[in-house]
Amino acid sequence: MLRLTSRFIILIRENTMLRLICSGLLSLIATLAVAATPKLDPSIDYHSQANPHEVLTTHLTLDLSVSFKKQELSGSVIFDFERKADKVSELVLDTRDLTIVAASARVDGKWQKTGFKLEAPHTALGAALRVALPAKADQIKVQYRTSPKASGLQWLTPEQTAGKKLPFLFTQAQAIHARSFIPLQDTPQVRTTYDAILRTPKNLRAVMSAENTPNADKTGEYRFHMPQAIPSYLIALAVGDLEFKAMGARTGVYAEASILDAAVAEFADTEAMLEITEKVYGPYSWGRYDLLILPPSFPFGGMENPRLSFITPTVIAGDKSLVSLIAHELAHSWSGNTVTNATWRDLWLNEGHTTYLTYRIMELIYGQKRFNMESVLGYQDLQGDIAELPAPYQLLAIDLRDKDPDDGFSNVPYEKGALLLTEIETKIGRAAFDAYLKQYFADFAFSSLSTEAWLAYVDTHLVAKHPEQLSMQRLEQWIYQAGIPEGAPAPKSNAFSDIDQVRTQWLSGSLKSSDIKAAGWTVHEWLYFLNNLPAQLTEAQMLDLDTQFKLTGTGNNEIAHSWLLIAINNNYQPAYSRLENYLIQIGRRKLITPLYKALVATPSGKVFAQRVYTSARPGYHPLAQGTMDAIVNP
Ligand code: BES
Ligand code: ZN
Repeated sequence: MLRLTSRFIILIRENTMLRLICSGLLSLIATLAVAATPKLDPSIDYHSQANPHEVLTTHLTLDLSVSFKKQELSGSVIFDFERKADKVSELVLDTRDLTIVAASARVDGKWQKTGFKLEAPHTALGAALRVALPAKADQIKVQYRTSPKASGLQWLTPEQTAGKKLPFLFTQAQAIHARSFIPLQDTPQVRTTYDAILRTPKNLRAVMSAENTPNADKTGEYRFHMPQAIPSYLIALAVGDLEFKAMGARTGVYAEASILDAAVAEFADTEAMLEITEKVYGPYSWGRYDLLILPPSFPFGGMENPRLSFITPTVIAGDKSLVSLIAHELAHSWSGNTVTNATWRDLWLNEGHTTYLTYRIMELIYGQKRFNMESVLGYQDLQGDIAELPAPYQLLAIDLRDKDPDDGFSNVPYEKGALLLTEIETKIGRAAFDAYLKQYFADFAFSSLSTEAWLAYVDTHLVAKHPEQLSMQRLEQWIYQAGIPEGAPAPKSNAFSDIDQVRTQWLSGSLKSSDIKAAGWTVHEWLYFLNNLPAQLTEAQMLDLDTQFKLTGTGNNEIAHSWLLIAINNNYQPAYSRLENYLIQIGRRKLITPLYKALVATPSGKVFAQRVYTSARPGYHPLAQGTMDAIVNP
């Protein structure tokens, strides 16, 4: 069979006619395959099985007990709802790995049992829960408990925390993991307010993406109220040995005691960021803005849970060099939390606008040099992804039907989205674009929109007003085509041009490492220097850099990431014990994924990766475990 195939390939190679026929056939098959895929409806959320168009949930009342021993949340959720269609007979909720204990309906003020059916689970979406809805019911209650393998929860042992004495629990609901700890209509098209009671061991404190009582007595019973309606992916809770310290009038930090002061110092500019963002983009809608610092296994840099962003401790560098993360999560209070993507295909609306705002906030607080440097680094991240990702993943509006929405995650929705907005800004001027964005946030406040609704809005509010500068055709190219459109703005930094020069001179041997004036370099300059070194360096060059600048011992986790990647690609053994510690201590996917990928590219690296991963895996979040399993033990 193999021989036959290879003969056939040789035949095709040598015969032009046959080659033409074959390529014609292939493109015909491709066209047929596209035609056979049902047309995508931008208004449908393909990642939820719920029925909000029939019954729309409007408020949740949660009462949950937290058991660290069983690694389980158990209790109930009550739904208020509106009927959107006649003769609706059921409320359909999303669930994943939940045990449903009972369902009841409130009719004429009295609770009565009602029927329910948990469907067989769909791999990507989980299991639909159908709850019978009596004609006169005005509330539905579901009693349930979670599974220890719930994808949206991470249960940490005391050893995995800063204090090492007490356990920790946190949720991560975006994109579709809320359904693994609450049965609900898990789609960003539905917004609910909520009330909650969390029952915890008495020595721990619970917090939520809601109104918190900062120094509430540790009673083991915590009450929360969330007056603003939010999509399900923003429901969040955490339980741990937490303390609170204010930073400003509206901002503060929740963290374990041993890292609280360092976090408060690192993020001291949060209040200023909040004030300046309001000035440019309109009032902050959420009351307070606090930060919760999580243990290092948190799989993301940050998560914009309203009123209380969840933040990785890996950005506490001691010099505010990585605080663009805070600007980013804060910016989501406008783009994402107030104006929300309608489906996960539209994630770029959340992340692209937020990334654009992040750069602007960083410029307002730290000046243009930093703005330029961060823009260039972001642009390079994008170029890296564009070089590697298959074309369908390079579109802003990305078809994720039948896939886990996490599969669409890359720099594309972030940096390509931001670049599109930067292009509009460049063409119509900053003042006009700022005014437009402020209006956009006001017009869509507390609602969700699809890419197509965004295009329609831009058509009337921007393109019609600036027909010479903008065209729908150009915007559609950005959204529906792969790659970075030709003529797109390319960020520049003068500081980085100097770094390019130094790097070239050092590589050619005309500049000694001891003559590199790196004492004044910022973290960004270091990242740019390292990220743009050639793939292969000599052992002597590696040793030279390491001896001169102590890179293996750097305290900055981003610099460490860049250096360790270089170390792996050059099999530079002196860095491997730091690498091992790094992979065991940090669970943030963005920092560890590239390291594992680089390791498994060589046989000896793979052996190392598998050995380290065996000890590191139990400390990783379920989402990070999934990603690393696929890389290390495919
Ligand atoms: N909302 C995202 C995290 C997210 C996106 C979780 C999609 C699940 C699905 C958050 O705001 C984010 O973008 N975090 C980044 C921060 C960075 C871009 C500054 C991260 O975690 O790396
Ligand atoms: Zn984000």
